[in-house]
Amino acid sequence: MITIRDIRKSFDERPVLRGVSIDVRDRETLVVLGRSGGGKSVMLKMILGLLRPDSGSISVDGIDVLSMTYPRLRELRFKFGFLFQGAALFDSLTVGENVALALRRGRAKDELELNESEIADRVSYSLEVVGLKNTERAMPANLSGGMKKRVGLARAIVPSPRYMLYDEPTTGLDMETADEINVLINDLRTKLGVTSIVVTHDIHSAFVVGDRFAILDGGITLTTGTRAEIESSTNEDVRKYISSSLSTSRTRLT
Ligand SMILES: Nc1ncnc2c1ncn2[C@@H]1O[C@H](COP(=O)(O)OP(=O)(O)OP(=O)(O)O)[C@@H](O)[C@H]1O
Ligand SMILES: [Mg+2]
Repeated sequence: MITIRDIRKSFDERPVLRGVSIDVRDRETLVVLGRSGGGKSVMLKMILGLLRPDSGSISVDGIDVLSMTYPRLRELRFKFGFLFQGAALFDSLTVGENVALALRRGRAKDELELNESEIADRVSYSLEVVGLKNTERAMPANLSGGMKKRVGLARAIVPSPRYMLYDEPTTGLDMETADEINVLINDLRTKLGVTSIVVTHDIHSAFVVGDRFAILDGGITLTTGTRAEIESSTNEDVRKYISSSLSTSRTRLT
């Protein structure tokens, strides 16, 4: 369970978040929708303690993130898999080495006592889960955008996280590849039983993967609810947000 209460953040006096509150229930996928520059990535970074809000509170499994000191924050981050906006792979490392990175960082601190063959097994399993079996030796430069996203996903799940944070998982992908990633997000939830937050401005993808939705607009949470609840909202700003996202997003032939 992740609880975000009334978080506020300004950069150089310019308010980005002006009171955002969101609850993420165990094993659900909550989608945060919002326009570009609205503070969605900032909010994800705050959950991991990578950025601090000016005020408000954030807790994970009932524990206050903002008062955690560094060793506790490290432990917290091990509970999370993070798919960064952009694939952010290291081009000089193989696919297998990229995926193993998350485990080696842990091993250095003896937080996960894994030997090389256990690391290789977990890397191989994670690649298999994302549909990239036996690609350990490939170099990122030779992969398509969709495959890079999958490697990013494999790297996120390799430490067996309880929580997954996806920052714009389908942005920049063609429609077919985006659909494949959405299927994978749903698969990971079933296979690994993770609790997820997906940040996106792609409302079609949102409806494919989300159980509940929060719309961030003007620095506040305009609304939170199921698809039926947000689509039947009588709030004028919510209705405007949904109709403008539907009209400016991709049109489907099916
Ligand atoms: N570390 C930082 N220092 C200063 N300004 C920042 C910092 N991080 C984010 N911002 C600003 O905060 C605003 C919100 O950024 P953020 O990246 O969270 O938006 P977003 O909703 O994720 O947008 P997008 O959909 O384009 O990814 C932007 O104007 C950005 O320039
Ligand atoms: Mg962002």
